[in-house]
Amino acid sequence: MPEEITYLDRNENNYGPAPACYEVLRTSTLEYFSWYSKDFVRGVKSVLSERLAKEFGVPENSVLLGYGAEDLLKQAVHCYLAKDETILIPTHSWWYYKSIASEKGGISVEYPIVPGADSFAYDVESLLRVAAQHKPRLILISSPNNPTGNSLNFTDLGTILRKTTNAVIVLDEAYWGFASRQTNDIKDLISEFPNLIIIRTFSKYYALAGIRIGFAFLGKNLTLLSQYSARYLGYNRLSERLALAALDSRDYYTDIGRKMVQDKETYYRELGRIPGFKAYRSDANFILADVPAQWKAALKDHLAQKKMTIKFFNEAHLENCVRITIGTQEQNRRLIEEIRAFATEKKIL
Ligand SMILES: Cc1ncc(COP(=O)(O)O)c(C=O)c1O
Repeated sequence: MPEEITYLDRNENNYGPAPACYEVLRTSTLEYFSWYSKDFVRGVKSVLSERLAKEFGVPENSVLLGYGAEDLLKQAVHCYLAKDETILIPTHSWWYYKSIASEKGGISVEYPIVPGADSFAYDVESLLRVAAQHKPRLILISSPNNPTGNSLNFTDLGTILRKTTNAVIVLDEAYWGFASRQTNDIKDLISEFPNLIIIRTFSKYYALAGIRIGFAFLGKNLTLLSQYSARYLGYNRLSERLALAALDSRDYYTDIGRKMVQDKETYYRELGRIPGFKAYRSDANFILADVPAQWKAALKDHLAQKKMTIKFFNEAHLENCVRITIGTQEQNRRLIEEIRAFATEKKIL
């Protein structure tokens, strides 16, 4: 057996899903494999959209399901962005946003996310200035943002939403849950802001990236997207059941979230002790850290030899950064040990 690689580069949740999810697989019968769902008979798109609607106190028809947040982001952009129209995206963000905009011949314009002493931050004034200048069709906001890990607070979100009412606002909250489970109030937001779509996923907090299921909440003007997104033969029935089991396993995930908060503190402290290294505070299951340019390649080799993978960036704004996924406590301990061993060997420490 080849030695296993520890993947800490793709923001997956290495704790794995709740035991109840494995139980779902053990107990799924013929209907979940061979039959389409009949949920539409009750006038809902899925048992899962129905459950999410109940949990968040919104009408079922304002909940969308998709093949991960990835799919819902693509649907939203493809539905509303036409050729030569503008979408605003953060300077430091997931490469995928630009890619889906260019699939439609759209123009991506960046607004700044700025590094502070301890963490990155949204710069609301700059965002609004860029919006006033470019009059975008869509504005994409990611909170917590990948790869910087910072969130947009509720007050700033409100300020942006109140001043950009002509645009469709896509709020990517794929990393919701790790910092707090009360980051915003979905019901109030989608009823006050009819052009808002809030996208979440079971991939990250719920450790179900492999089953590809994301969900979204829609403001009431976005009926075109609701129609565009309709799947007349239903959704993946096993994924729906797995997602429901995850929602039922609150304690299991709360415990993981707590461990990750502790381990992030250890990363901030331990990386901060190595000259030239710095970890930025993050609300997600990853942290962004500065690594001195001259040590990047050697660190990558060192970790590869130890069968550990973290994300090394080459993109503009991020040349001297790495992104570390918060793994299990054991994986985090080993990674910190290896980074310290590297720093000692190179006489950085
Ligand atoms: C910011 C952000 N949004 C969305 C996604 C995609 O999530 P999903 O697995 O639900 O497609 C990712 C994946 O890493 C991400 O970083």
